[in-house]
Amino acid sequence: MIAPSILSADFARLAEEAAVVAGPPGEGADWLHVDVMDAHFVPNLTIGLPVVQSLRKATDIPLDCHLMIEDPDRWAIGYAETGAYNVTVHVEAAKDPVALAKNLRAAGAKAGLSIKPGTPLEPHVEVLKHYDTLLVMSVEPGFGGQKFIPEVLDKVRTARSLVDTGHLRLLVEIDGGINADTIEAAAEAGVDCFVAGSAVYAADDPGRAVRALREQAAK
Ligand code: DX5
Ligand code: ZN
Repeated sequence: MIAPSILSADFARLAEEAAVVAGPPGEGADWLHVDVMDAHFVPNLTIGLPVVQSLRKATDIPLDCHLMIEDPDRWAIGYAETGAYNVTVHVEAAKDPVALAKNLRAAGAKAGLSIKPGTPLEPHVEVLKHYDTLLVMSVEPGFGGQKFIPEVLDKVRTARSLVDTGHLRLLVEIDGGINADTIEAAAEAGVDCFVAGSAVYAADDPGRAVRALREQAAK
């Protein structure tokens, strides 16, 4: 699965930027990744709930909201209630991630848990039993266009084997520095869903970039 990140899109034309990566099933983007940053959990500020509410009405692509915010226990639920398909919170920020996952699911969304590059996976395996997606960050969260950190693929491999042996039931997602040079290694490590910002929206033809990334991941 490919999830273009609108962080690298033109924020004044979000509906058109969503449409540009949409397409027939199996060809267009599977999810649209929406990076919510609060200038506290990360040193950058992007968009919040009102924009997601508008985007929800403007596109049929499932919205994959990645909340890089403090206090997700309080704020994440609004994104689920507004119709986000998947709502991902950071394990470094969540106070009660198990309760949060239950609340997100009760509000009709999938629950996602993200870990920063320096955060180990093992201490969070029990918590991950309550989640539908694991978002492995392959750059420090905060900005698009950064260099892929290959060391995080060890965590992808661990997560993949936990899923394949039935210890976890979730999709493994990767976010940061995914492009034509890095996607094959990530696919080989066991990623199910690839977030790509600059590799899609800085391309001359973002729709074609989505198709090319999917083909490469399937190699
Ligand atoms: C970074 C964001 C990513 C970002 C990825 O904090 O979470 O989703 O958009 O951008 P690229 O693909 O350019 O690294
Ligand atoms: Zn993201």
